[in-house]
Amino acid sequence: MEDLTPRTIDLEPIERASTDEIQSVQLERMKWSLNHAYRNVAMYRDRFDEVGIHPNDLKELSDLAKFPFTVKNDLRDTYPFGMFAVPMDQVRRIHGSSGTTGKPIVVGYTQNDLNMWADVVARSIRAAGGRKGMLIHNAYGYGLFTGGLGLHAGAERLGCAVVPMSGGQTERQIQLIQDFKPDIIVVTPSYMMTLLDEMERHGIDPRTTSMKAGVFGAEVWTEEMRREMEAKLDMHAVDIYGLSEVVGPGVANECVETKDGLHVWEDHFYPEIIDPETGEVLPDGQEGELVFTSLTKEAFPIVRYRTRDLTRLLPGTARSFRRIEKITGRSDDMIILRGVNLFPSQIEEIILGIPGLVAQYQLVLKKSGRMDTLDVLVETRDIVQDSDRHTLAKQVKGRIKDVIGVSTHVEILPPKTLPRSEGKAKRLVDQRNL
Ligand code: DLL
Repeated sequence: MEDLTPRTIDLEPIERASTDEIQSVQLERMKWSLNHAYRNVAMYRDRFDEVGIHPNDLKELSDLAKFPFTVKNDLRDTYPFGMFAVPMDQVRRIHGSSGTTGKPIVVGYTQNDLNMWADVVARSIRAAGGRKGMLIHNAYGYGLFTGGLGLHAGAERLGCAVVPMSGGQTERQIQLIQDFKPDIIVVTPSYMMTLLDEMERHGIDPRTTSMKAGVFGAEVWTEEMRREMEAKLDMHAVDIYGLSEVVGPGVANECVETKDGLHVWEDHFYPEIIDPETGEVLPDGQEGELVFTSLTKEAFPIVRYRTRDLTRLLPGTARSFRRIEKITGRSDDMIILRGVNLFPSQIEEIILGIPGLVAQYQLVLKKSGRMDTLDVLVETRDIVQDSDRHTLAKQVKGRIKDVIGVSTHVEILPPKTLPRSEGKAKRLVDQRNL
C-alpha cells in the first residue's frame, strides 16, 4: 500500500496545537454557542431556565456538565424547524435522516455552516490520505442523507475532483472505477463489500484497481472488516464518523498513518463521554455514550446531544485532538438476549475470525413462546457442501457461546443469498412483534 501520510506543512496549525491552545479556543467558542442557542432557540431557553442555569455560568469547560442534555425526541418534538437558531432566509441547506420510525430528523445550515462543514470534511479526507489533485469516487447517497453532499463539498474544498456517483447502480460504479481510475473511494463499508462482490463477478481483481484509500463510515465496522478490505483491495481503509444532528460526516476521522481511532475535530464539536444510565460525565479512557456540543454552528446549534453511540475518548496521537475509539455500537442497537447484552459488531468480529465466512450477515430476533431467540444468518465465501455448512454453523454457534455467553441459532447460507446494502446495511431484523 502506498504511503499516504500528509505532509506536516499541509496540516492546519490547530491540528498540531497544544492542549492549552485547543481548550482556550473551545472555551471561547462554547460561551458563544451556548449564548446563541439560549437566545435563539425556545427549547434551549426553557430547558436552561428550568434547571436555573445561564450560559454566562460557564466559566470553564467542565461547567458544561451543569447544562441539560438534548435527545433525539427533542428534535422530533420541534419538527421541522423548531430548533433552528436563525431566520429561514439565512438557511442555505436542509438535511435530514430518515430514522426507522416516525418523522425524519431535520437539520439546517447557514452559508458559514456549509463552509465549516466543507472544511472539516476536507480535513477528514486529508487525514485519510487524500490531497489536492486526486480523483474521488463518491458512492455515499446524495439527497437528504448528509453522506453524499457532505463528502462532495469537502473533497472539492481539498482541491480534488469528485465523481458524484451516489449509491446504487452497482455495475455502473464498477465500470466508472475501471474507466476513471479514482485515487480514493468514499462509501459505506457494507456497500464497499457489495462493490467487491461485483468486481469479482466481473473477473476483476480488486487489488488491481487504481484506488489507494477508502473512507468508510456511516455505520459500525470492525477491525476484522478493515483487515479483510485492506487485504482484498490492497488499499488503506480509514474510518470517518459523523451524524446529521451534529453536522453530518466529518465530526471525527482516522489518520491513515496511525489508524488508531478517530480524531474528533474538537475545535468545532466538543465531545463528552457519559454514563448512559446516570448521565454522569466519565473521565477520558472510560467507555460510555458519546455526547456532542457544537461550538461554531449557526443554524442548528446543539447542546450536549446524546448520540447513543458507544466509545471512549483517548489522547491525541497523529493530531493533537483527542480520539474516539472505533464505535462499538449504538445503545439502541444493543440486543438484550435473555439478559445478555450483545452488539452486532461482536458477531461480525466472530464471523470474520472464521475462515470461509464473509461479512455478509443478518441477525434476526424472534420470539419462541415467551423466550427471545436470535438467528444468525451468515454467508460463505464459496459454495460449500452441506456437511461443511454444518461444521461452520457449529463453529459460529460455539464461538458466540464462548465469547458472548449466549445460545443462538446459526444458519450458514450460500454466497449472495442475503440482501445487499447500497448504503447503510440492515444488520438487525426484529420480528418479535410480528
Ligand atoms: O451517517 C453521517 C455520515 C455519512 C458519517 C457518511 C460518515 C460517512 P446519520 O445518518 O445521521 O449520519 O447517522 C449517524 O450513524 O450516530 C452512528 O450511529 C452511525 N455512524 C456514523 N459514522 C459511523 C462510523 C451519517 N464511522 C449515525 N462508525 C451515528 C460507526 C457510525 N457508526
